[in-house]
Amino acid sequence: MTSQFQLYINGQFEDGAAQFDSINPATGQVWAQMPEARTDEVNRAVAAASQALQDAAWAGLTASQRGKLLYKLADLIEKAAPQLAQYETSDTGKIIRETSSQIAYVAEYYRYYAGIADKLEGSYLPIDKPDMQAWTIREPVGVIAAIVPWNSQLFLSAVKVGPALAAGCSIVLKASEEGPAPLLAFARLVHEAGFPAGVVNIITGFGPECGAVLSSHLDVAHVAFTGGPETARHIVRNSAENLAKVSLELGGKSPFIVFADADLQSAVNAQVAAIFAATGQSCVAGSRLLVEASIKDEFVQRLVERVQSIKIGLPDDMATEYGPLCTLRQREKIEQVVARSIQQGAKLLAGGKTLERAGYYYPPTILDCSDVAQADCVMTELFGPVLSVVSFSTEAEAIQKANSTPYGLAAGVFTNNLSRAHRMTKAIRSGIVWLNTYRAVSPLAPFGGHGLSGHGREAGSDAVLDYTTTKTVWLRTSDQPIDDPFVMR
Ligand code: NAI
Ligand code: MG
Repeated sequence: MTSQFQLYINGQFEDGAAQFDSINPATGQVWAQMPEARTDEVNRAVAAASQALQDAAWAGLTASQRGKLLYKLADLIEKAAPQLAQYETSDTGKIIRETSSQIAYVAEYYRYYAGIADKLEGSYLPIDKPDMQAWTIREPVGVIAAIVPWNSQLFLSAVKVGPALAAGCSIVLKASEEGPAPLLAFARLVHEAGFPAGVVNIITGFGPECGAVLSSHLDVAHVAFTGGPETARHIVRNSAENLAKVSLELGGKSPFIVFADADLQSAVNAQVAAIFAATGQSCVAGSRLLVEASIKDEFVQRLVERVQSIKIGLPDDMATEYGPLCTLRQREKIEQVVARSIQQGAKLLAGGKTLERAGYYYPPTILDCSDVAQADCVMTELFGPVLSVVSFSTEAEAIQKANSTPYGLAAGVFTNNLSRAHRMTKAIRSGIVWLNTYRAVSPLAPFGGHGLSGHGREAGSDAVLDYTTTKTVWLRTSDQPIDDPFVMR
């Protein structure tokens, strides 16, 4: 398949400053050329977004009209989902089984924010001065820079673009250089939906020449970032230039906690979903199994058996459950951390050896770290299919271990003890707790973390407020002239 992808700036499609190769991770071969945005393209995209905020074509729309455009975009996404899924699968290696259902669901995020557009209300303030009236207006905060990582880009951008447009902002969206195809194709849908030129600009490029220029641009009001903690530090430093508001959705080292009283079969399947779905390349991956010591051997044995039957294959085959990693660099990092962890004393229970086939495949891997709780694989995010097993004997120990990393994005707790489920929910430091389930998401449910997992919450109704700023209006109702200029009113 030869495919043409272009940047989308000010309502026009263009080729960018240069082209770069995009690799299909299932084969390791180049499958498409991507357009690269550098300083000039970024500056023009931000200028177009700034201008759109002034133009009546966008600024003059009612909130309900903005909502209607978002509904239209949602319908177009639903229709184009099979093609977009194909692009994401070719460009990132993520299995078609997941991309096709996830992208169809992305439409629901746009519908959710379409519905919110005309429910952003200001308030009338019962002000404590008899000759004054005061009220607040919610206004768009300005130009949004949205920067996303390579995985689930349509999904991770929907939770930024949806609320930003509902609030009346304009946006420059930077797709990841690793797999930008689905977002660049999405630009065609934005265009077809009829958003005025400059309201949504979609570009891609590399960190220093594109991401850094965008996030430090003086006309950007808010940087909505999803990615790794190292890049997040650059973003925060860059924001010292424009003093933009920054929201950060970063990675995690999320605990998956199984008590002896849990439904073990259900917990085994959920643990497989938590760490081996998307080949472990998920920010909420449940990468640390904390299992009660009394059931550890039985649970781990069932888990290893289940893992042996995972269908590894080509990502564009609907029967495939497990595909390649997105990049070679990612596989090399995982190989190194696994080797180091084994040296530190972790015991290999499954996988651990790179598969001999074309593409960036790495097998589902399980390491028993019960005796080495500080092993590298337990403490660092790998963004890959590596599960570290640690046991605990008491609820207090489970809590202490769950909270023992600098991250705090998600946690899973499997127990049939209702009181314990509530105690654990309260004690765990994370933005999401899944009880007897894992990896469930919805446009209605806030999503985000603490600590090295970032801050800010995406999805849910409050998220739209992040893209607004409050204007307070005062009106003096007295007919009497203002007398004394030297007192505060
Ligand atoms: P990354 O941090 O390397 O890149 C993310 C984006 O930042 C890319 O578009 C990149 O071009 C851009 N970038 C790089 N340098 C920059 C700079 N100096 N200034 C501005 N932008 C720059 O992340 P990667 O490797 O693509 O994705 C994996 C990471 O993303 C993992 O840590 C993962 O946990 C995290 N992630 C977090 C999610 C969440 O919602 N909490 C969801 C999915 C992934
Ligand atoms: Mg690629």
